[in-house]
Amino acid sequence: MKLSFAGILVGITLNALVSYETADAALCMCHPSSCVVINANSSMLSHPELYCPANMMSINDLLILRYNDTILTVDSFAPFTNLTSVEIFQGSLSRIEPGAFEKTPALFKIIVRSNVLSTLEDYTFRGLDGLHILYLISNNLTTIAPNAFYGLKNLTYLVLSGNQITQLPSTLFSSSPLLRSVSLNNNMLTGLPTGIFDNIDSLFKLDVSYNQLSEFDFPDLQVTLLFLHNNSLTSLQVGDHVKVVQAHQNRIRTISGSGFNLTDLLLSDNAIADVTPIMAMKNLSKLSLSNNPLRPDSTFGSLDRLEELFLSRTNLMISEQTFANLSWMTLLDLSYNNLTQLDFSMFAAMNKLKSLIVAYNRIETINFIELREYLPELRVLEICGNGWNATYLERMLGKMRKHKLRADMQGLSHSLIFSSVFVELCSAGVETSTKPSFDYSDYYSEDFGDGIEQEIAEYTTSSPRPQPRVSESAKAGHVSSTSKPMTTMVPMFALEPTASVRLNTMVTADVILPAEQQPVVGSSPLYITFQVLVYTFSVFGIVCLVVLGYYMRKRRFDVRRATSIDSADSVRLV
Ligand SMILES: *[C@@H]1O[C@H](CO)[C@@H](O)[C@H](O)[C@H]1NC(C)=O
Ligand SMILES: *[C@@H]1O[C@H](CO)[C@@H](O)[C@H](O)[C@H]1NC(C)=O
Ligand SMILES: *[C@@H]1O[C@H](CO)[C@@H](O)[C@H](O)[C@H]1NC(C)=O
Ligand SMILES: *[C@@H]1O[C@H](CO)[C@@H](O)[C@H](O)[C@H]1NC(C)=O
Ligand SMILES: *[C@@H]1O[C@H](CO)[C@@H](O)[C@H](O)[C@H]1NC(C)=O
Ligand SMILES: *[C@@H]1O[C@H](CO)[C@@H](O)[C@H](O)[C@H]1NC(C)=O
Ligand SMILES: *[C@@H]1O[C@H](CO)[C@@H](O)[C@H](O)[C@H]1NC(C)=O
Ligand SMILES: *[C@@H]1O[C@H](CO)[C@@H](O)[C@H](O)[C@H]1NC(C)=O
Ligand SMILES: *[C@@H]1O[C@H](CO)[C@@H](O)[C@H](O)[C@H]1NC(C)=O
Ligand SMILES: *[C@@H]1O[C@H](CO)[C@@H](O)[C@H](O)[C@H]1NC(C)=O
Ligand SMILES: *[C@@H]1O[C@H](CO)[C@@H](O)[C@H](O)[C@H]1NC(C)=O
Repeated sequence: MKLSFAGILVGITLNALVSYETADAALCMCHPSSCVVINANSSMLSHPELYCPANMMSINDLLILRYNDTILTVDSFAPFTNLTSVEIFQGSLSRIEPGAFEKTPALFKIIVRSNVLSTLEDYTFRGLDGLHILYLISNNLTTIAPNAFYGLKNLTYLVLSGNQITQLPSTLFSSSPLLRSVSLNNNMLTGLPTGIFDNIDSLFKLDVSYNQLSEFDFPDLQVTLLFLHNNSLTSLQVGDHVKVVQAHQNRIRTISGSGFNLTDLLLSDNAIADVTPIMAMKNLSKLSLSNNPLRPDSTFGSLDRLEELFLSRTNLMISEQTFANLSWMTLLDLSYNNLTQLDFSMFAAMNKLKSLIVAYNRIETINFIELREYLPELRVLEICGNGWNATYLERMLGKMRKHKLRADMQGLSHSLIFSSVFVELCSAGVETSTKPSFDYSDYYSEDFGDGIEQEIAEYTTSSPRPQPRVSESAKAGHVSSTSKPMTTMVPMFALEPTASVRLNTMVTADVILPAEQQPVVGSSPLYITFQVLVYTFSVFGIVCLVVLGYYMRKRRFDVRRATSIDSADSVRLV
């Protein structure tokens, strides 16, 4: 059903494009339940019968490309009483009159993207009890009135990314206890008022990354995913509830809180010297402390559930205590630490380690016999950048081949939470054929906050010891690392509420861009064409790729099965 809807949408928009001639003409293309309107203005919306097929009044979805007007009035949507979804992409909309949606009470979703909304007045969305999704992305919002969201009882997803908001009223969310996901990233927030989250029952995701927060002090906030990166925080509090915290690119020195349920903590590029508070967070399975001035004698032995540890650029001196007890480790990054030798006996506890990165140190030699003794499962060893001459490097690579070690980390970067910070150190010159897989994995990880229900399911049902994806793909090689992210995406698309599926790609593509990097709103037909194509193919294309990926995989396995049967046959024949 979803597929056919996407297909129809492609049809409509392609049709629209073919017949699209001048930049000024209004154009309306409809399907029984949805319409795409290009170059609408408010008079056009109030008299759609002049431009659109007669059945337009009963549609559910309205997509406006380029709104050639500055205001949405109380009458703008009056003719469309059954609307459930309104999306306005691009245009000069700068004001929404309070009550503009009052005559369309069935609205489930409103998206206003790349317009120039500068403020939201009190009661703007009054009457929208059933609204679940509100995205106001890449506008010019600087202020929001205290009661702007009044009445949005069922609001679940709120995205205000890519605006210029400097502060928020403390009562902003008081009507919306059911909020599950709030994205305020890429704004200019310098602080958040105390109590702003008090009325929300339980947040799943809160994203305030790319702002100018100097503190984030909400010890009682119940949130599962917390994104705080690229701010100016100097301290971090980790509550009992949160499972994933991304707080890289800050100035964090001190850490507090129990972190009782914390599994993933990203703290690269901060000012942490003392790791003691982190060592009490026993549920951690992924930890990045790269680029922090850690005390050289820091040890990690109390985190006995740790699987991935990133310690690039940290001053660390490795001793027997450093990695004691870490028997679940699969990935360790020790690049850029001026290490001069590798004593594998100090890695003895990590006997399941699959990948070890020691690139960009000054290691003189590697004892592979010892390596195999202590790290029997090691598959990937990154050794580039240790100042070896070509002959010596070649010799080492030869030894690595003999010990079944790969020298690069291709395929690793889809590790869900760390893909954004994973730096490929040693991959210069390797095949570019793997590049698409990284694009999909980026897509996957960016998207990861919006597939909320699916995420919840994943977090609650995942076994305490999930199979490390990392080593699997490293073993299986590039092909499987390409198809893997795609197959992981299948459930996400399958489970998402219909209403939000269509927009994820655009929305997330936007969300990651800081406001100043947003594409300039062009008005050429070519640009609109491009936008429409992106819109349709991002949805349709991904679905196709997922399906394709699925069949490819299936075929590969089929082939393998077939050949094994064949060989059995031939043995019998012989
Ligand atoms: C609104 O758009 C229609 C169709 O393009 C145009 O004829 C009309 O003049 C526009 N009205 C205003 C007020 O711009
Ligand atoms: C809205 O939907 C209802 C029920 O589906 C239908 O009876 C009504 O005619 C629709 N309204 C319009 C304006 O089409
Ligand atoms: C609407 O389009 C016309 C013609 O392109 C343009 O002159 C006018 O400025 C636009 N109005 C707004 C509000 O963007
Ligand atoms: C809001 O959500 C509640 C609970 O999910 C539901 O019972 C109610 O009907 C919703 N309100 C509207 C107007 O959809
Ligand atoms: C909206 O913001 C952009 C970029 O910050 C700026 O260039 C533009 O002038 C603003 N437009 C309005 C109407 O405020
Ligand atoms: C994030 O923060 C770092 C360090 O403060 C800065 O170098 C980088 O440019 C920031 N990134 C963005 C996209 O703002
Ligand atoms: C920690 O996580 C478990 C399992 O997900 C959950 O049952 C528990 O309530 C969480 N603890 C807190 C303090 O949120
Ligand atoms: C964290 O650890 C405690 C006890 O070690 C356990 O009860 C709890 O369920 C764990 N939480 C998660 C999310 O694994
Ligand atoms: C290793 O674990 C044991 C038991 O959990 C603990 O007593 C010991 O202190 C740990 N070692 C280090 C270096 O933390
Ligand atoms: C590594 O050594 C170089 C030169 O000896 C020095 O400049 C650099 O600061 C050292 N880096 C670390 C992380 O200790
Ligand atoms: C290459 O490095 C090795 C080990 O450091 C050294 O023994 C050898 O002489 C070097 N070869 C050349 C050609 O520099």
